[in-house]
Amino acid sequence: MTDTQRKEPFEGHKKLEKNVTLLAAATLVTVAIGGVVEIAPLFWIDNTIEKVEGVRPYTPLEQAGRDIYIREGCYVCHSQMIRPFRDEVERYGHYSLAAESMYDHPFQWGSKRTGPDLARVGGRYSDEWHVQHLKAPRSVVPESIMPNYSFLAEAELKVPDPAANLTALRRVGVPYTDTDIEKAEADLYAQANPDADAGDLAERYPKAQIRDYDGDPARVTEMDALVAYLQMLGTLVDVDGAAAQEALAEEKGR
Ligand code: HEC
Repeated sequence: MTDTQRKEPFEGHKKLEKNVTLLAAATLVTVAIGGVVEIAPLFWIDNTIEKVEGVRPYTPLEQAGRDIYIREGCYVCHSQMIRPFRDEVERYGHYSLAAESMYDHPFQWGSKRTGPDLARVGGRYSDEWHVQHLKAPRSVVPESIMPNYSFLAEAELKVPDPAANLTALRRVGVPYTDTDIEKAEADLYAQANPDADAGDLAERYPKAQIRDYDGDPARVTEMDALVAYLQMLGTLVDVDGAAAQEALAEEKGR
């Protein structure tokens, strides 16, 4: 059988392969279809993150602690994202759900871990342990390479305009209410002061832990804010509860 005798199964394809312009145009059309299928639904859904019960915006004190966490570069050594791998789940607990970091600005995802992941560190240690560990990590974990942050216990917590911080976060989608913003400054100090009247703080921020964190109830320090933040990490969602399991099943099914 010679070449001239062989039948082309599809003449059109031959034309397409030999004409660069036609090939480019056809490629564009094909890629565009794929693009439209991926992008179009995003115009009709408000949120790509499945809502999970329990997730709420940070209290002003937790947010202040988070800002200190970022200021001090804790993220250089610590991530907050437990990946769905067996070793990580066994070490750190249930893997992180997208919703758990939906109000994070900036987010703390990552896998570069000089220190352990902190996504579920809340409630794992006592406040005293955190304070001691932050002041002098090697006094509790002799082999630690974490720097000392003892100055946090001396530094009075100063947030120039807590209401403005919450307003800025609201602009990027964190659902703070007008009341939250109005009471931001009072909330900030009341959460770390056992003698203050916290008002309806606990109703507006369910599971908010109201207490003195740094062992010095007379002052509200940066240590109070940072420990308040660490102690709430991963505590909002009842990951083993029924509601969370349902959301998980949905997340998997997508
Ligand atoms: C140079 C890297 C480094 C930096 C920066 C760093 N850490 Fe660590 N961190 C570690 C290492 C390593 C450990 C594990 C040993 C230990 O417990 O000290 C650790 C442990 C921890 C733990 C205990 C976690 C657990 O599950 O046992 C907490 C909480 C923590 N760090 C918080 C912080 C905070 C908050 C900051 C910022 C103020 C910070 N770290 C900055 C390296 C670092």
